[in-house]
Amino acid sequence: MGLSITIASGKGGTGKTTISANLGVALAQLGKDTTILDADIGMANLELHLGLEGMKTTLHNVLAGEADIKDAIYDGPGGVRAVPAGMRLDGLRKVEYDRLKGVLHELAEMCEVLLIDVPSGIGRTVIVALSTGEEILLIATPEISAMSDVLKTKIVAKKLGATIRGVVLNRTSFDSSDLTVKEVEKILETKVVAVIPEDAEIKRSLASEQPAVLRSPNAPAVVAIKRLAANLVGEEEEQPTPLEPPGKGFIERLKGGIFKR
Ligand SMILES: Nc1ncnc2c1ncn2[C@@H]1O[C@H](COP(=O)(O)OP(=O)(O)OP(=O)(O)O)[C@@H](O)[C@H]1O
Ligand SMILES: [Mg+2]
Repeated sequence: MGLSITIASGKGGTGKTTISANLGVALAQLGKDTTILDADIGMANLELHLGLEGMKTTLHNVLAGEADIKDAIYDGPGGVRAVPAGMRLDGLRKVEYDRLKGVLHELAEMCEVLLIDVPSGIGRTVIVALSTGEEILLIATPEISAMSDVLKTKIVAKKLGATIRGVVLNRTSFDSSDLTVKEVEKILETKVVAVIPEDAEIKRSLASEQPAVLRSPNAPAVVAIKRLAANLVGEEEEQPTPLEPPGKGFIERLKGGIFKR
């Protein structure tokens, strides 16, 4: 069995699918046999990032007991492979969630690197994915509202025995309201392993159905994602964390809201 990494955040819209798609292509470009699974069974959209929409056999069919997982793996751009979840509502109706755990384990056994893109929240799909992924990458935007969700995800993942690889801080800007790397590390008690800037190329790439890693290899967000890929497979040192001022009183309030005092 190779390396399986679950990409989770708790909060919606932090960039899980964008990062899964581009990180997957970046890992494939490093020569790793990489497969991305869209585990967002209800609101799938990984296929749009990879230009793989409308495939005949998807995770929906596998979870309905109609197909083997091997039949739902497709060659995507840049040498990455992907399992689309399926975007059709009639496919979703047939899904038997009890099959998910077995399917994830079977897929993990087959892949050198498996990235699992999960939905937001902490529902049963996320729980199964958190317990399957050997390592968890937590995706957060540098906002106070993202922190409690990602902290809950981290706590659940640790209870399930997963290793937290680190936090990816996505959509950072130079706005003074952004939490700093040091603040995020203090709140989550987890290292920030990548800082991905807000980058208009990300949205342009989605519109062009080509992952940004292929379309704009020198875009700032892409450079950060490629560095993360190299770091994940041990080909580059972790990014140094810049020295920043300590956190504010907010950190204690947030933790007080989640943990019993
Ligand atoms: N670094 C970035 N710069 C600019 N836009 C970004 C960046 N990362 C993500 N986005 C944009 O943010 C939006 C949400 O991204 P994405 O769908 O990847 O989030 P998600 O966490 O998978 O959402 P969901 O919880 O709904 O699955 C998209 O429009 C995407 O293009
Ligand atoms: Mg998503």
